[in-house]
Amino acid sequence: MSLPPNFLDELRARLNLSDVVLKRMRMQRAGREWKSPCPFHKEKTPSFYVNDQKGFFHCFGCGAHGDAIGFVMRHDNLGFMEAVELLAADAGLQVPKASPQERQKFERQKSLYDLVEQATQWFEDQLHTAAGRQALTYLRNRGLADETIVRFRLGYAPQDGGALKALLAKAGYSDADMVEVGLFKRPDDGRSPYAFFRNRVMFPVTDRRGRVVAFGARIMEGEGPKYINSADNPLFHKGKLLYNMSRARQAAADGKPVIVTEGYMDVISCVVAGFDGAVAPLGTALTESQILELWKLQPEGRRIPILCFDGDNAGRRAAFRAVERILPLLLPDHSATVAFLPEKEDPDSLIRKGGAAAFQQVLDRARPLMDVLWEMEAQGRDLTVPDQRAGLEAALAQRCGGIADGRVRRAYEQEVKDRLYRLGRQRKPARPGGFAGAGQRRFGQPEGPPVSRLWDPRLRGGVAAPGEMRERHALAILINHPALLEAEQETLADVTFASPQNERLRQALLAIPATDSTLDYGEIRRHLLAHGFAESVEAMLDGISHPAARPDATPETAHRLLREILSILALDQVRTERLNAELEGVRGTDDGVYRRSEALRKELVQRLGYAAETDLEE
Ligand code: UTP
Ligand code: MN
Repeated sequence: MSLPPNFLDELRARLNLSDVVLKRMRMQRAGREWKSPCPFHKEKTPSFYVNDQKGFFHCFGCGAHGDAIGFVMRHDNLGFMEAVELLAADAGLQVPKASPQERQKFERQKSLYDLVEQATQWFEDQLHTAAGRQALTYLRNRGLADETIVRFRLGYAPQDGGALKALLAKAGYSDADMVEVGLFKRPDDGRSPYAFFRNRVMFPVTDRRGRVVAFGARIMEGEGPKYINSADNPLFHKGKLLYNMSRARQAAADGKPVIVTEGYMDVISCVVAGFDGAVAPLGTALTESQILELWKLQPEGRRIPILCFDGDNAGRRAAFRAVERILPLLLPDHSATVAFLPEKEDPDSLIRKGGAAAFQQVLDRARPLMDVLWEMEAQGRDLTVPDQRAGLEAALAQRCGGIADGRVRRAYEQEVKDRLYRLGRQRKPARPGGFAGAGQRRFGQPEGPPVSRLWDPRLRGGVAAPGEMRERHALAILINHPALLEAEQETLADVTFASPQNERLRQALLAIPATDSTLDYGEIRRHLLAHGFAESVEAMLDGISHPAARPDATPETAHRLLREILSILALDQVRTERLNAELEGVRGTDDGVYRRSEALRKELVQRLGYAAETDLEE
């Protein structure tokens, strides 16, 4: 829709920029101007200026510059027309419609919004009637505080819709209007419309701007679908909207993550726990439009929503479907990560049991799209068999080929090539001396189903989770006792950690430049924080229980535990090597692979002084 030429001028003339800005943040007077720290970049001293005479804001720090519309677009993370409409409403101006038809449509929509708003208020009120008592109790029993009920405008639709209909009729709405927005249905037999939502708890669904446009409605007991949702209507397209979208948009503008969960209650629990960026699709799998909307929720820069799925098989399948959907749409710096919840939990139940921390942990373990894609195609394939590896290659090539954006496509193709190369190399006898560089385990996750026989935890001589814990302890020791980093640098360089997060930390530790003096704890921390590892360090330190891994342990104790862990990890790798050899049927021959693993073992014994023999022969 285009605007008549002088409309924007008139809008700007009517607006006082500082009013617009002051509605959203604090500023100090500075002569004829206003100043404050810039809302668009991090700073402590004010370099953000607003000049009402010129109608412009300007930041001398980051160069952000613009008028009232530009400010609202950036600050509220809105599109151009959305910002114009919002400002016009504030200024008491009507945004002109290009044609009479458009104008008519606009008027009609406006009144439909009002209709839905009135219904929403009425549903809210019903919670506090005798009929709604049960619904209120239901919500409270699910752990919702009264203020949460108010915040999400939850309500109750009674069995009988007569009162609502009378109310809306009195407000001037026709049956046709009520049917149009899906609150009432017309029976086939021509009788008058009946209420669609009956004896259900109501979850109002708002659009990007926070206007109610639809409802999800949950049954409390008895027969029937758990949730029913408004059908598409002139205000609402299921496939384009996400639950809690308007709040998430603001949260994203404030730098919070955008998190996609599966249900209404999940979103509410997330928001209560401080994850304001939580959204959910409305009873369907994520659609393409919703993916685009997800990206738009986040301000420019890296747009990477976190998709949460159940840890069970259905959840995995749903994750794969989502990845399938997203892949073709990827753009530079537009992606997603995938987080899996513990089995039998959804975000709502997890937060209720373990609080925000438990959910944060799940988010911290979110995996890049590439990992999930790999797992998707690797599962069920035996990667020790060449033709199945080729099958994996073909399948991944096809997936990557579907990425529409050439830059992203090439990056994915390159990544696949690199991973396949490492996988293939690992099958062959490697250079003598030193451990296998990229361990098999790097490609997958410790949790999740085995992707091939090599992945079977029993063959790896341990369960996945304790292995991950071992890695964490090694990292914690190194961070708490930096001197050991130098002492064990060589060994540390030769092992590979299974958990991608731990592995990144390992590499970051190795990358710390050598200094003349001995590294101290503060320096290491600063280095890791400066390189964006704050979250990984938090997650890594979480759950560290062994006294020898704590900062107050003596260097000797810490060193002993570190060596023990590193030797176990290294042994694991030797074992994998052996296993590879075994699977290729060369065990017991004097084949190079076997000789090599023998050499590795000796090296290990020598380097770590560890009784590797017995352990290896189990
Ligand atoms: P779930 O069945 O996972 O339920 O549906 P939930 O969100 O955990 O609900 P509670 O905690 O039991 O109340 C996830 C989402 O799928 C849609 C709803 O949007 C729901 O929030 N859904 C589910 C439906 O639309 N209809 C249904 O019958 C069930
Ligand atoms: Mn639930």
